[in-house]
Amino acid sequence: MPFPFDRIIIEVRTAAVDPVLSQPIDSITREWIMCGIVAYCGHGSAVSALTDGLARLEYRGYDSTGVALNPGNGREVKFVRAAGRLSQLLVALTLDEECNFRIGIGHTRWATHGAPSTTNAHPHRDCTGKVAVVHNGTIDNAVMLRTELMADGHIVATEVDTELIAHLIEDNLSEARAHEVIEGPDLLVAAVAAATRRLQGSWALAVTAQGFDCVVVTRYRSPLLVGESEKAHTAASDVLGFELDVETIRELNDGDIVSLSSRAVWVDAHGRQIPARAPLLGPGPVAAATLDGAPDFTSKEMAEQPSAARHVIDTLGGRLEHGRLLDDLGLPLCCRVRLVACGSSFYAAQITARVLTRIGGIPTRVVIASECTADVNETDTLTVAFSQSGETADVLSAMDAWPRPWLAVTNNPQSTLARRADGVLGLGCGPELGVAATKSFTAQVVAGSALAIAMSAAHDRISGAELARLQAQLAAVPDRLAATDEQVAPIAAELAAELAHQPGWIFMSRGAGMPYASEGALKLKELAYRWVEATPAGELKHGPIALVQDQTPVVVVQAQPAARLAVNVAEVAARGARIITVGGGEDANLPVVAADEEPPWGPLEAVIALQHLALGVTRHLGHDVDRPRNLAKSVTVE
Ligand code: AGP
Ligand code: GLU
Repeated sequence: MPFPFDRIIIEVRTAAVDPVLSQPIDSITREWIMCGIVAYCGHGSAVSALTDGLARLEYRGYDSTGVALNPGNGREVKFVRAAGRLSQLLVALTLDEECNFRIGIGHTRWATHGAPSTTNAHPHRDCTGKVAVVHNGTIDNAVMLRTELMADGHIVATEVDTELIAHLIEDNLSEARAHEVIEGPDLLVAAVAAATRRLQGSWALAVTAQGFDCVVVTRYRSPLLVGESEKAHTAASDVLGFELDVETIRELNDGDIVSLSSRAVWVDAHGRQIPARAPLLGPGPVAAATLDGAPDFTSKEMAEQPSAARHVIDTLGGRLEHGRLLDDLGLPLCCRVRLVACGSSFYAAQITARVLTRIGGIPTRVVIASECTADVNETDTLTVAFSQSGETADVLSAMDAWPRPWLAVTNNPQSTLARRADGVLGLGCGPELGVAATKSFTAQVVAGSALAIAMSAAHDRISGAELARLQAQLAAVPDRLAATDEQVAPIAAELAAELAHQPGWIFMSRGAGMPYASEGALKLKELAYRWVEATPAGELKHGPIALVQDQTPVVVVQAQPAARLAVNVAEVAARGARIITVGGGEDANLPVVAADEEPPWGPLEAVIALQHLALGVTRHLGHDVDRPRNLAKSVTVE
């Protein structure tokens, strides 16, 4: 049975209520989802389960990694940590550690408190070195706790908020032991529960300790799941962290505490034993997180673009007449639209805005989420947030500035954004693990265009014949993407090798082509670390043309009006630029299979060529394609 990420395409949601605070989720601080946690307690090798899981969660953050391995039977817990990527940790692990431990916790970090060094890497420990903690989230009262703990004589060794949790658990363990009230896993559960009562902020925690043959996990406003297979009980920040043989996956509610040993015992926020939460539908995305022979996730996800587009069209294509899509989403028909997004999602939003204004004449504003201010009091406006992850902090903050209704266009129907929105248009692309958005961008363009067509139809701005023509144009997209991919990949790789060492590039286009030029430029920046200027071609003469010198690569996304674009190409060619044209024309340097007539969403196929160009340059320079420097997949900081 497929997992909801793959399955849900449209969901209508009402505002949810926080189970612990009993207040609407809208009114509380958002979740953090950076950092990856994995925990293991079973019969197999803890190290291989932890490191395999961390490899799949590394997209969440990759400043440093670490594991704590518990040998059981009262023996010392072993910590192995490394700054940088998981590969550094793998070098540090010994054969003994790889084979002989059955209980452990692991972490891949995106630092919030303290530099990304080995010292600050998780797992963190208490003064005795017996308690090991991994954490995803931030502790808001860390300064106060640090002062208090140090005044009580604790040696706080790092700058990280997480370490304070280990000391709190240490205190609670010794207090409970002094009173000899409980023992075994229940004692560690009680100590973790007492420690979390002192915390403000957000946390997903996995804890193990010398003298306890178990792992205790809990969460509050950071995600955490537990999994069960024949040979182990495990926990992970998301489904990708589990091994392929996982049979059931359950999500902790805020405040739940679960001890994992030969069984999983659940208690709620009040310490009462509760039945395990209902299992999620199945582990589908775990399989989606394997490379299947592809050299990296980015190229695998690029190749999935035709099927991602087909999936969106199959699901939405039949709901465009009379704006049925809006009814299905439970949304009213508004006069105006406001689109909010960041990065690649912003370019997809720009394309959607163009379709809305072009075919529907619907007044539309596109806002970069981090630049949003609620300065215009527009009424009767649908606010649409585009966000692959649904966890982008800038987007979540921006939404607060505007009244409802809110629509989320996201690849993650479980996300904070989706939970807060009035309607959810899920992309259903499956997990996108490469940090660079590829298939999610394409799916956003197709979903955004379908939404714009449905809204235009609902406003009676397009005739039945025009609607049928647009539907046919949309339906042809997946095959054109597939044909483009096949045709352009080898040419782009060759060109990339030739131009890889060019330090500065210009990407330009006009009209509907411009968001694709911007998206192509972003891919080259984030993957290949090249300086790239993306500019509307007509703007060149107002400044950027000063950058052009002999052999400067100028990538031109062909779009309408072609004749005017040709003039701008001539201007840079006259100054010695190396012109690289991307389009359906016979003489294009990066040939794509374009529509005979430019559709309202513009030359989408060009993005395939631009992605291949960026990928080729990146590989040639030897950079990590999936995990570019300084970035994280979900940007949960403002
Ligand atoms: C895209 O390649 C980037 N990694 C980035 O610009 C991304 O699109 C942006 O951070 C928005 O993310 P979201 O779609 O998850 O909100
Ligand atoms: N606050 C912890 C740290 O800095 C965890 C960060 C996070 O989950 O993003 O290491």
